[in-house]
Amino acid sequence: MTVDVFEIALILKTLALITGKRAMQKVNWGLIGGGEGSQIGFAHRAGAVLDGKFRFVAGALDADPKRAREYGIRLGLSRDRAYGDWREFVACERNRSDRPGLVTVATPNDTHFEIASTFLRAGFHVLCEKPMTLTVDDAIELDAIARQEDRICAVNYGYSGYPMIRQLKAMVAAGQIGRVRVVVAEFAGGFMADEADSDNPRVRWRFDPNQAGVSAVSLDLGIHALHLACFVTGQSVASVSSDFAHGIAGRGLEDDSLTAFRMSGGAIGRLWASGLAIGRTHGLAIQVFGSQGGLRWQQEQPNQLQWTPLNGSTSILERGAEGLFPAARRASRVTIGHPEGMPLAFANIYRDLGEVIMSRRDGNEVDPLALDYPDSEDGLHSLQVVFAMVRSAGKRGAWQRVAGIQD
Ligand SMILES: NC(=O)c1ccc[n+]([C@@H]2O[C@H](COP(=O)([O-])OP(=O)(O)OC[C@H]3O[C@@H](n4cnc5c(N)ncnc54)[C@H](O)[C@@H]3O)[C@@H](O)[C@H]2O)c1
Repeated sequence: MTVDVFEIALILKTLALITGKRAMQKVNWGLIGGGEGSQIGFAHRAGAVLDGKFRFVAGALDADPKRAREYGIRLGLSRDRAYGDWREFVACERNRSDRPGLVTVATPNDTHFEIASTFLRAGFHVLCEKPMTLTVDDAIELDAIARQEDRICAVNYGYSGYPMIRQLKAMVAAGQIGRVRVVVAEFAGGFMADEADSDNPRVRWRFDPNQAGVSAVSLDLGIHALHLACFVTGQSVASVSSDFAHGIAGRGLEDDSLTAFRMSGGAIGRLWASGLAIGRTHGLAIQVFGSQGGLRWQQEQPNQLQWTPLNGSTSILERGAEGLFPAARRASRVTIGHPEGMPLAFANIYRDLGEVIMSRRDGNEVDPLALDYPDSEDGLHSLQVVFAMVRSAGKRGAWQRVAGIQD
C-alpha cells in the first residue's frame, strides 16, 4: 500500500487541529450554594469564568429547590442542569460525558463535609469554601478521600490569590527580608459589634456551637489570616497559646481572640481575630518581619505591598509595576493603578485550578506557579490549628501543640 505524501500531511494537520482544539477546550464547572443574595456566590461565578478556563454548566444554588432552579435558569443554565438539590446534581451529572471537571461548594460550613466528600467520591474535582469542615476528624477524612480518589480538593483561601500576596511570598522565599522572625496576622472588623444584633438570625447562628462548631471568629475569620501566615512564610504552625473573649455578653462562642504561635521554621507568630473592631472595615492584614527587612500588606489596599529593608526607607511596591516576581506578574491582569480586587483574587485560584485540571486532562506539563492553590492539606492544617487554639483558650492560654508539626 502506498500512502500519498499529501494524505500524510492531511492526517497530521487533522491531528494537530484535534489536539489543539482539545488543549483549548474549557473545563465545565458546577456550583453548589452561592444563591441569590448570598455573600460569596458572585465572586465565585465571576472568578471561575474570568480567564476563559471554565464554563458554568450546572448548579444547585440555593437551599430552597424552587429558588435554586429559578436562579440557575436566570443565570443562563439550561433547564435540565439548574438543579433544586445537590444530590440530584450528583445523580444526574456524574454519568454525563460533559459533566463538570470542577465543582465548587459554597454552602454554609456545616454542609461542606457531606457535599464535598460525595462529589469527590463521584469523581469530581472540588473547590470547597473555608473552613473545609467543622471538625478535625472530618478534615482528615476529606483529605484522605481526595488522595484515595486522586481528585483535587482545593480550599478557597481566596486571599492567597492576590498578586501582592504572591509577591510577598516570593520575596520571603527569595530571602529578601532574611530569616523570618515574626509574623503578625489579623482579621479584625466590626462585623459583630452591634449588641442590638443579638436576635438577628444572620448573626445569632455564628455564636451557637450547634451551628457554628467550636469557635466563632477564630474559625470564620482568623483562619484566613492563619492560612496567609503559613502561605507567605512556607512554615506551619507548631504550637499556640490563645485567649478567647466574649466582648458581648451571652454569646456562646468567642467574638475576639488573640493567639501567640510558634512556627515550624522558627518564626514567632501573633494572630488577632475579632468581630468587635468597629472601623476596621474588613481588617485582614499580614506583616512579616525578617532579619533583613519587613513586609506589610492590607486587604483593603491589596494592590500595594510595603517593603522596608533593614536600616532603609519604606517603599511601596505596586501591583502591575516592573520588576515584580513572576508569581505576582502572572496573577495580575490590569494596568498599574487600576484597582484589581477580591473576585480577581478568586479568579487566580480558579486559573491555577483550570491549568492543573487541563494539564491532567490533556497530559501536558503544568506551570509550577499554578500549583500554589490552597488544598485539603492546608484546609486540614488550619483546622488543626484552630482546634489547638480552642483547647488552649479553654486552659487559660496553656500552650498546645498542633498535631504532627515540630517547632
Ligand atoms: N473565602 C472567602 O473569602 C469567604 C467569604 C465569605 C464566605 N465564605 C464561605 O462561603 C460559604 C458561604 O458563605 P456565604 O456568606 O455566602 O453564606 P450565605 O448564607 O450568604 O449564602 C449561602 C448560600 O448557600 C445556599 N445553601 C445553603 N444550603 C444549601 C444546600 N444544602 N444546597 C445548596 N445551596 C445551599 C443558601 O441558599 C445561600 O444561597 C461559607 O462556608 C463561608 O464560610 C468564604
